[in-house]
Amino acid sequence: MNDFNIKLLTPNDWALYKSVRLESLLDSPDSFGSTYEQESALSDADWQSRLDLKARGLDAMPLVAQRGGRAVGLAWGVIHAPDVATAHIYQMWVLPAVRGEGIAKALLHEMTAWALGRKCDQIALAVTTSNAAAVRLYQSSGFIAIDQPTPLRNGSVLMVQPMALNLHSVVESTI
Ligand SMILES: CC(C)(COP(=O)(O)OP(=O)(O)OC[C@H]1O[C@@H](n2cnc3c(N)ncnc32)[C@H](O)[C@@H]1OP(=O)(O)O)[C@@H](O)C(=O)NCCC(=O)NCCS
Repeated sequence: MNDFNIKLLTPNDWALYKSVRLESLLDSPDSFGSTYEQESALSDADWQSRLDLKARGLDAMPLVAQRGGRAVGLAWGVIHAPDVATAHIYQMWVLPAVRGEGIAKALLHEMTAWALGRKCDQIALAVTTSNAAAVRLYQSSGFIAIDQPTPLRNGSVLMVQPMALNLHSVVESTI
């Protein structure tokens, strides 16, 4: 079923973003460096300013996937100047009830198109090594492991593997 749409979050969407991000942190605590405890302490003004990319001077693409008006997926693309050659993906999450329907792939597709439009050389992310679904998602999209795994958080036994997608190979393979 492809009855979902992908929407770019704006500062007006802060309550929607807050709700889906906190839901993702509660659902998948081992997938993210940040925690529910940390982010549930943020004020509403903090959530709004996260999405105020202009005020932050941040080149980013915060996306939510929606079905029937309900947020069912989330992902952020961020380019950290001055390293404009790399787009980073953070906060990737899909509601458990709708996993396996291609929503993460669709979010990745949007991120790739955005990064190509920004003339980036690569997309980078980090994935918990024990998270088979996410590792497979990225491998099947052309990401390869780079660098050594590092702990998810200070003191965590979980490790995260840095991965990258070479955007020149994406362009070449689509010609
Ligand atoms: C990882 C995650 C985002 C995948 O979302 P999804 O919408 O279910 O993924 P898709 O349906 O788009 O699947 C795309 C590909 O991912 C891989 N994949 C997804 N779920 C998988 C699973 N349970 N087992 C193995 N591979 C899986 C497959 O390669 C799949 O392609 P295919 O269906 O053609 O085989 C989702 O499981 C999730 O939110 N997990 C918890 C949060 C998380 O781990 N985020 C990643 C942080 S780096």
